[in-house]
Amino acid sequence: MAESPTVWVLNGPNLNLLGEREPDTYGGETLADIEKRCAKAVKQAGLALEFRQTNHEGELVAWIQEARDSAAGLAINAGAYTHTSVALHDALRLLTIPIVEVHLSNIFAREEFRHHSYVSGAATGVICGFGGDSYLLALQALSGKISEQS
Ligand code: DQA
Repeated sequence: MAESPTVWVLNGPNLNLLGEREPDTYGGETLADIEKRCAKAVKQAGLALEFRQTNHEGELVAWIQEARDSAAGLAINAGAYTHTSVALHDALRLLTIPIVEVHLSNIFAREEFRHHSYVSGAATGVICGFGGDSYLLALQALSGKISEQS
């Protein structure tokens, strides 16, 4: 049987502390809880999942480059690097697969410095404001795009 296409979910800085980090803003779920829900969702969609988190900008860049050859679609919550990183923008521009920018919080309803994203201009679409469900909505969107292409 052919291998299932793999969807990559990349997470940036401080997302390893979900659950204890500002729960009023980010909710009570841990990143491991979200990963479990993502794993279940991709399985139901006939896809495979690669789910990673790092606190380092360069590692995110390296993973995005790696995804070029391995991923059928990419969801990325770049955390604070969303608002600062031209390097992430440039790396994402190299990809030809569908990309969904994800945020737990509604970044447009928060401080002004969060309103600009270097990820959005390189993404197919953006989902924010639905807590852990933002990830599931992103996977649903990616799964639709991937099956459109195949
Ligand atoms: C975040 C929003 C960012 O502004 C923030 O720096 C994060 C989390 C979110 O998921 O809501 O670390 O990406």
